[in-house]
Amino acid sequence: MKKAFVKSYGCQMNAYDAARMADVLGAEGFTATDSVEEADVVVLNTCHIREKAAEKVYSELGRLRVLKSERQARGLDTRIVVAGCVAQAEGAEIQARQPAVDVVVGPQSYHRLPDLLARSRERRVVDTDFPVEDKFTHLPRRRTSGPTAFLTVQEGCDKFCAFCVVPYTRGAEVSRPVAAVLAEAEKLAQGGTREVTLIGQNVNGYHGLGPDGAPVGLADLIRAVAKIPGLARIRYTTSHPNDFDEALVRAHAEVPALMPYLHLPVQSGSDRILAAMNRKHTGDQYRRLIDRVRAARPDTALSSDFIVGFPGETDADFADTLRLVRDIGFESAFSFKYSPRPGTPAAERSDMVSESVMAERLAELQALLDAQRYAYQRAAVGQVFDVLVEKAGRRPGQVAGKTPHLLAVQFDAPLHHIGTIVPVRIVEAGTNSLFGQLATEAVAA
Ligand code: SAH
Ligand code: SF4
Ligand code: F3S
Repeated sequence: MKKAFVKSYGCQMNAYDAARMADVLGAEGFTATDSVEEADVVVLNTCHIREKAAEKVYSELGRLRVLKSERQARGLDTRIVVAGCVAQAEGAEIQARQPAVDVVVGPQSYHRLPDLLARSRERRVVDTDFPVEDKFTHLPRRRTSGPTAFLTVQEGCDKFCAFCVVPYTRGAEVSRPVAAVLAEAEKLAQGGTREVTLIGQNVNGYHGLGPDGAPVGLADLIRAVAKIPGLARIRYTTSHPNDFDEALVRAHAEVPALMPYLHLPVQSGSDRILAAMNRKHTGDQYRRLIDRVRAARPDTALSSDFIVGFPGETDADFADTLRLVRDIGFESAFSFKYSPRPGTPAAERSDMVSESVMAERLAELQALLDAQRYAYQRAAVGQVFDVLVEKAGRRPGQVAGKTPHLLAVQFDAPLHHIGTIVPVRIVEAGTNSLFGQLATEAVAA
């Protein structure tokens, strides 16, 4: 039996693509393996968003080259595939820097993987076209569905934030038709999936063709997905403040399956920096939007992304970011030092913030965000939540799952609870996870 090792290095969409590449290889007779040493095909699904993420690929490829020649000495063939956003951005450079790479394939072409692997026996291949065909219509059936699943509904980005490579690596915004999304969601539900996260680089810019040929927005897509039997929970990510329409706010109020959690990146709290980032919204516009979502669904947990040290960011700008974080109160957040990316407008600027100032600001911001996260977790102690059980827990006899607000919970229960939603009383808050007990009472609505 031929084996394939597929590893994802990036965002949720990158993880979704990695799973779909495993499906493509599965349809060709490959079984999935977690052990790279025994793999006949190794796929690295790469991320280009920050320099560190991109550089990791080359060090990993160095190790794979050694592995490939060791296997070769034993008469075993190994095909090395670089996929994802680094492949898209640096196809030729990857070929030049690492001769052991057999195939370079971009995020829009991976449905052609079997053909590319076959051709790579003659010579090394690069496929980074943005094809006219829709890869989704060429992908095989999904082979696995767990209790939770990602489902790509929209891809690409037309926003061109000054720091970001995504519009270049993923291309222009494209939405999948409603029928295609519903068909994939139904298959997942039939396979036992209880929670689906609709994903897109700019997911609330979704405007897929509906049944009558007119475009449908994300709010109506959510309402349609909510009707699928078996699907109890819906989430979506990542949205942009400027595409957040009233219909989506209403969906938070009116669709019980839509979970009270929102990841809405703001990047900075300084209007000057937001303008320089080409975000096209202010800190106050973001605050007002959060107010509307909270008015619609008061217990919505909030999450965001932040960049510190964007070129030209002063102490006063950074203080505005801290103020915004204090004003809003986040359950969780991701924060990064600005990383100049080739080809983006911000990378041309000469007023870079020094590494040491960036490090200080990141530490200060993360301390504040951590404190907010702990406070949020502590406030959960004593409450009962519906928990979707996803997998076995860290210790024997334990299972792990998530609350509607996406807090991770571990508790004692038999493994047959996996895939079910059960009430759990939170008894303790750890650093990364809550600990609970199966509750006898149901959650108060
Ligand atoms: N499509 C999503 C996510 C894009 S990438 C969105 O629009 O929000 C995820 C996060 O990485 C971004 O929100 C941003 O905070 C961060 N990021 C993107 N480019 C970056 C860069 N050049 N340096 C540091 N962080 C960056
Ligand atoms: Fe990147 Fe901005 Fe598009 Fe998000 S909205 S993917 S940060 S360009
Ligand atoms: Fe990275 Fe590409 Fe996602 S650059 S964050 S894998 S869209």
